[in-house]
Amino acid sequence: LVIGIGPGDPSQVTIQAVRGLNDADVVFEIERGARYLTDVRREILTRYMDHDPRIVPLHEPPRDRSDQPAAAYGAAVQDWRSARADVWEHAIADEVPDDGCAAFLVWGDPSLYDSTIAVLDDVRERGHIAFSYEVIPGISSIHALTARHGISLNRVGSAVQITTGRRLIDHGWPAGVDDVVVMLDSGGAFRAVIDLDLTIYWGAYLGTPDEILISGPLAEVAGEIERVRAEARERHGWVMDAYLLRSRACE
Ligand SMILES: C[S@@+](CC[C@H](N)C(=O)[O-])C[C@H]1O[C@@H](n2cnc3c(N)ncnc32)[C@H](O)[C@@H]1O
Repeated sequence: LVIGIGPGDPSQVTIQAVRGLNDADVVFEIERGARYLTDVRREILTRYMDHDPRIVPLHEPPRDRSDQPAAAYGAAVQDWRSARADVWEHAIADEVPDDGCAAFLVWGDPSLYDSTIAVLDDVRERGHIAFSYEVIPGISSIHALTARHGISLNRVGSAVQITTGRRLIDHGWPAGVDDVVVMLDSGGAFRAVIDLDLTIYWGAYLGTPDEILISGPLAEVAGEIERVRAEARERHGWVMDAYLLRSRACE
């Protein structure tokens, strides 16, 4: 089972996810080194599982994160994914009983900027072990963001694009859309489009007690977001944020 667990608030775990967790003989825990993510996952297991789960850590292979051209970046991601598939293949073979069920807990929703499904496909395509998987959706950080700002994701009959900070910097505002959701921004990618007439809806640590929300005309609040983000990052040692950029031209 590939189970979406929502963006950080244990009360945003669905009933279907809880049922899935309770069907699992083994819960695989991907070791990302982020203490906070592990704590939230453990809290969810303690709160919702009616038996003591067997938790099996999955070691994450090192990843080359050096700045590189897009083609080399794609190859580095591919290498990393394949190294993960090696680890997962052995873990599934060794740890899951025949006809047993394992759970992979995925932050937010498994279909959104997450490679769990792709790595499982890699493992399956190798053909050494046979298994099927089912995906249980979760509340994504995008939906936590729009809910907390009390806005809809799209405007009537209008298109939305979901992209990364890196792509916003490299390609600017995408053609044909009025709303852009930016994820995986290491900081300030919105500066690339600061001259456009945009409203930003920004959120950090969504669904957690540390949540921060800022919204307003991009040019007016960009500096405040950068300052608040830097302070929060300093305080917590990490930051996870996402934002919606809304073109004001079609408001
Ligand atoms: C690897 S992606 C995973 C997204 C996840 N699958 C989802 O459905 O939200 C990680 C990015 O999601 C966003 N994100 C995830 N959880 C968040 C949260 N609690 N608050 C703000 N942004 C979050 C950030 O943009 C972060 O860089």
